[in-house]
Amino acid sequence: MNKKLYFGSNLKMYKSIKATIDYLQRLIENTKDISRDEIELFIIPSYTSLESATKNVDRNYVKLGAQNMCWEEEGQFTGEISPVMLDELGINLVMIGHSERRHVFGETDVEENLKVKAALNHNFTALLCIGETEDEKRYGISDEVLRTQLKVGLHGVALSQVGNIWIAYEPVWSIGVNGTPATADYAEKMHKVIKECLVEIFGEKALEIPVLYGGSVNPNNAKDLIVQPSIDGLFVGRAAWQAEKFDQLIREAKDTVDNQK
Ligand code: PGA
Repeated sequence: MNKKLYFGSNLKMYKSIKATIDYLQRLIENTKDISRDEIELFIIPSYTSLESATKNVDRNYVKLGAQNMCWEEEGQFTGEISPVMLDELGINLVMIGHSERRHVFGETDVEENLKVKAALNHNFTALLCIGETEDEKRYGISDEVLRTQLKVGLHGVALSQVGNIWIAYEPVWSIGVNGTPATADYAEKMHKVIKECLVEIFGEKALEIPVLYGGSVNPNNAKDLIVQPSIDGLFVGRAAWQAEKFDQLIREAKDTVDNQK
């Protein structure tokens, strides 16, 4: 069997509770014939939709995650949500360090590291997002930036926790309405840098860590991206927010990989 392909979407600050449930149910309906041994499908809705989502969707078909998390279990952290609270909802996937958290809300690598460790210590899967800015790319320091984000972000993580780490490479310049998607060649080059760095940190076991590409993934570039040897999945924003369109993107990407063999 081919390697498992990862497909996921972060719904950001979009969709009401009702719209989220409707989306998730349609997505499951559309994609349910695709074996979950072959794909890992995950959706990261807003906090306010999470509880209802856990009750109204069959999580054998879609994994649900949170968009952010505090590293403390409880305390004087107004506005934050703790791993204990997410656990209570039955959520065990958390995205950490999305570009908007880093660049709109000023989160640092040191904070991402606290979150990654808290997530892993609570047996969550931690989806750590990394990516260089346009300026960093222009100065030719993309590799160094990614290596720093990984080395700080994953500092102190035990080898036994490697199985619960996912990485998303999302260059900041590629994300959102004003983003330019990375070419498949560029993304592959950066994914190689990421994988090499992960092996440096954890040894060969790191090759099990899925590394997903995100940033203006769309129906036109998904196939070229997914066939790259170091790209294990696609983390999609806008192009995934209609269930039918995401289903189609997933199928086309998967078929392309299947037909390649
Ligand atoms: P986009 O978002 O696909 O809309 O560019 C990607 C992301 O922010 O993860």
